[in-house]
Amino acid sequence: MSDEVGPGATLTGNLFHGAGEGDWDLEVIEGRWPDDALGEVFIIGPDKREPGGHWFNQFGLLHRFSMEPTPGGTISARARAMGTRVARIQRRYPKLFRTVEFAQFSPFGVSNMANTNVQAMDGRLFVGYDAGRPIEVDPVTLEVITPVGSNGEWAQMAPGLLEPMCPVAAHPAPSWEERALYFVNYFPMPGAPTYLARWGLSGPVERWPLEGMGPFDSIHDIKATSNHLVFCDLPFKLEPDVMRGRGPRQLSNQDFTQLWIVAKEDLRRTPPGESVPVTEVRIPMPTGHLMVDVDDSDGILRVHTEHITLADLMITLSEGEVTHSGAVVSRDHEGLISLAQQPGCMGTYEIVAATGEVRSADTIWDDRFWGGVLSTYDHTDGAARNQVTQAWFAGTGFDPALVSQDWWDMYAHSDHQRMVPTDELPPEGRPGALASFDLASRKVSGVFEYEPGSFPSPPTFVPRRDRSGPNDGYVMVLVHTDGVASGRRSKEIQIFDAQDIEGGPLARATAEGFNPPLLLHSYWMAGRRGPRPSSYRVSGVRDLLGAVASFGRVARTFTAVGREISSQKKAGTLPLSGPGAMPL
Ligand SMILES: [Fe+2]
Repeated sequence: MSDEVGPGATLTGNLFHGAGEGDWDLEVIEGRWPDDALGEVFIIGPDKREPGGHWFNQFGLLHRFSMEPTPGGTISARARAMGTRVARIQRRYPKLFRTVEFAQFSPFGVSNMANTNVQAMDGRLFVGYDAGRPIEVDPVTLEVITPVGSNGEWAQMAPGLLEPMCPVAAHPAPSWEERALYFVNYFPMPGAPTYLARWGLSGPVERWPLEGMGPFDSIHDIKATSNHLVFCDLPFKLEPDVMRGRGPRQLSNQDFTQLWIVAKEDLRRTPPGESVPVTEVRIPMPTGHLMVDVDDSDGILRVHTEHITLADLMITLSEGEVTHSGAVVSRDHEGLISLAQQPGCMGTYEIVAATGEVRSADTIWDDRFWGGVLSTYDHTDGAARNQVTQAWFAGTGFDPALVSQDWWDMYAHSDHQRMVPTDELPPEGRPGALASFDLASRKVSGVFEYEPGSFPSPPTFVPRRDRSGPNDGYVMVLVHTDGVASGRRSKEIQIFDAQDIEGGPLARATAEGFNPPLLLHSYWMAGRRGPRPSSYRVSGVRDLLGAVASFGRVARTFTAVGREISSQKKAGTLPLSGPGAMPL
């Protein structure tokens, strides 16, 4: 077989031909948009205008969709590029910047691409990025307001005048009862400290170094219960040779998840700067994202995981590459990561908070739903957050023509767990789909399949007015297509009844020229009425001073990491595989 991947592929070729900024009135082209859907959906992702390089290698493009139709019956949509200081400089002086894989370097530091996650709290909106500080944006204008915390308030991994690299997991943990966000600020290096940070939506960021964590590759997600914080590692292994474009991956990802539990009580009785203990728990299969039941009053943590079995975020497709099936990758699919080689799987674990003992473990998957990428759940009121009983997972399907040969060589015959044996992957592929996962009865309760060349991502739960209780509402998805609506390169949004996914979309809406690229995370928030309820802002001077003052501290951290690596080398304890492994 030598057909180019493109026409006939499960995925659209219109992933990375984005239209950038704009304002659109999306016309309902089929069905009826519900008149009791509430609030607004925000979606962030890399502002790809054309294919080329890694999917994540552009600054963020933030979208807002109003779920309440205009008097004319249209759906308002807006997209704005993230206008951080460094992003503005980059647009003006692009030659000062160099991109390696998904990271961007310049004399100003390591760019915070602000392209990964959105989180709302108290009418305020924050954009997250794993290698940078959270950025607050105005949910009405979508303009950047301020970073959260000055440079000096975060542990830094690399120096820079404007943007020293402050690795902060892109997903913060909202703790609604406290009106606070918790963050993980860390270095993916042996011997370097990991910090838990707390920010009460104004004032200083408080940080505690954590004690008792084993090695890990990277950290992407943290969640809060009433009494605990739970975060997990992401098998996102950064190998220097891959980052320099000098060769394929050498080390495969780990086949398990490490969860760490911190008691809020320990934080309350420990002054910031002093260490607090973690309880480390290991569960099978790697994880992308977490959900938790906020109510842990019985001392049991109920943790729900999006498992990313056999996924590898560092194995991407390149134009002209011959995939395992013999297909040639077209430019349209360049930069796509390897994450769709198995059915989407969710786990539910009951863990004794005090000891880390895993009391029960369950996984759910269904052969009808493949390539799960992002999920959503009802976090829109306290009752829903206390007990998460349903999630909606959107998947790209499975396309044999997009299975990278590098991925096949590394994982096909590895001892990693899998739901479907690699030799039994469906030769005809599987469609993109939206699925409802019933976490209470532990089954996939509904699947809606898309036509070849289209798939939904991301999904977002939207509550309805006068709802009967948790999970009563809608699921909005952005649907990537080759332009079925207008015959041009346009895409559409669809809204489903959350309790009847299989019934298909209640309504579809689009407009000419509406063409977002493949985006990442989304978040629902009630529409903000009135002015910003805060005057919090980090001053430029304080930020600069915080960057300069930390040069010495960053150098000392590097020296400590170097010392740790050589002592582990001498002792023969430097891990050569698994989490924290260093390519030697
Ligand atoms: Fe994420």
